[in-house]
Amino acid sequence: MIFFATMKTTLIKELLVSNPDGREVTIYGWVRTKRETKNLVFIQVNDGSCFASIQITLDRDKGLSPAIEEALKRISTGASVAATGQIIPSPASGQAVEISGKTLTVLGEAPVDTYPLQKKNHSLEFLREIAHLRARTNTFGAVARMRSQMAYAIHVFFQERGFNYVHTPLITASDAEGAGEMFQVTTLDLERIAKDGAEKIAKGENGVDYARDFFGKRASLTVSGQLEAETYATALSRVYTFGPTFRAENSNTTRHLAEFWMVEPEVAFNDLDANMDLEEEFVKFLMNWALTKCAEDMKFFDERIQPGLIKTLTAVANADFARVSYTDAMKELEKNAENFEFKPFWGCDLQSEHERYLSEKVYNRPVMVYNYPKDIKAFYMKMNDDGKTVRAVDLLVPGLGELIGGSEREENLDRLQKRIEEMGLNVDDYWWYLDLRRFGTVPHSGFGLGFERLLLYITGMGNIRDVIPYPRAPKLADF
Ligand code: 4AD
Ligand code: MG
Repeated sequence: MIFFATMKTTLIKELLVSNPDGREVTIYGWVRTKRETKNLVFIQVNDGSCFASIQITLDRDKGLSPAIEEALKRISTGASVAATGQIIPSPASGQAVEISGKTLTVLGEAPVDTYPLQKKNHSLEFLREIAHLRARTNTFGAVARMRSQMAYAIHVFFQERGFNYVHTPLITASDAEGAGEMFQVTTLDLERIAKDGAEKIAKGENGVDYARDFFGKRASLTVSGQLEAETYATALSRVYTFGPTFRAENSNTTRHLAEFWMVEPEVAFNDLDANMDLEEEFVKFLMNWALTKCAEDMKFFDERIQPGLIKTLTAVANADFARVSYTDAMKELEKNAENFEFKPFWGCDLQSEHERYLSEKVYNRPVMVYNYPKDIKAFYMKMNDDGKTVRAVDLLVPGLGELIGGSEREENLDRLQKRIEEMGLNVDDYWWYLDLRRFGTVPHSGFGLGFERLLLYITGMGNIRDVIPYPRAPKLADF
């Protein structure tokens, strides 16, 4: 008979560091391996609470009950079990404690011929196809714990510094980046519109009547919570938003998702330099958190996923980030022009090869590139006195490229309105955003850090689809 008492159940991570004083304990988890010698049976059980499994040892010399022998026959990799026994020091190397089993109950079998996770080293591609089971592997268990830990670290960083967490909306009527990469949200019957609309369009009428849509106007999933975060920063001074964002850009790369999480702090009474200081402090804090609070999982990533990772992250946590204007960065890139596929020139957007060259070859550490040409950046960025560049800043890191995008915001009403018009956006859509400049406007800045990019960097994983439980990308929304 097994009794469950949720919060009284002891996690394996707690047992592994507890005193092996011979007391009786109960564990719950999934079997990783079962191994038998003549008289001994060893079962490794993992409950995902930490990287390591705990070993249950059963000794036939001491006589095993028929119930245990029956349970053993049903146990294979992936089966869920409950076991009780004494917690004792382990004679085996690599583990401090083990459980001398007394009872063993199978909660659910995982038949060898159908359970897909049998091998130790399944390919990441194969595991992507069974995303609902992959958290049971070493790699994805570690990624999931890191994701949770880093989300926690983000809240700690901002909460400790007087930032308020603001829940910005996911459904919105305005395009925060003005890039037109939004997923539309509608309850209109698209099939009917396709039919009726074609007739109307043929008659020269508008095909879609958004007044009849759910929100009474065209609405979309947000690409960024920044604009709404600004409305709260200009009331609470320091805020951050942290949630899912959506982009309908057709980028099939290892660094892009259609649904990704972004953390966006927004600070009133802050300029571009202070914004860069905050970015640097933030990233270093996150590196230190990973290295000190997630040591066991980091050791795995360092040994099995990206050798040298811990050394790299330690260096980042201690380095002064480089800061260079776009114009000066361009001079560095032009010196190396012949080695790039895309020839760099003043005014071009930095390509991934340029970003990596700057952070890996020129500076060999994270670099913040600031003051970009206005035409390649969003409408809300503050114009410099030269009339050509805006106070944008991107943080580029070795091995990855862009981790953060941010800027000082245009706080002047006329200039902002002009930029919105110049970019071909509809000023009326941004009436509330412009109010922030009409009433009590202040210098303010902020940035957005892509949470999955951060996880790629910290775990050393190579594909962004492997650091979010269920990736969404072009032609990919399984599960
Ligand atoms: O540079 P981005 O587009 O900046 C903004 O959205 C601003 N509103 C942020 C702000 O100032 N509050 O995006 C910010 C970061 C990028 O640096 C990148 O790390 C990540 O979000 N990102 C993506 N991550 C995964 N998949 C995508 N498609 C991404 N697009 C941007
Ligand atoms: Mg960007």
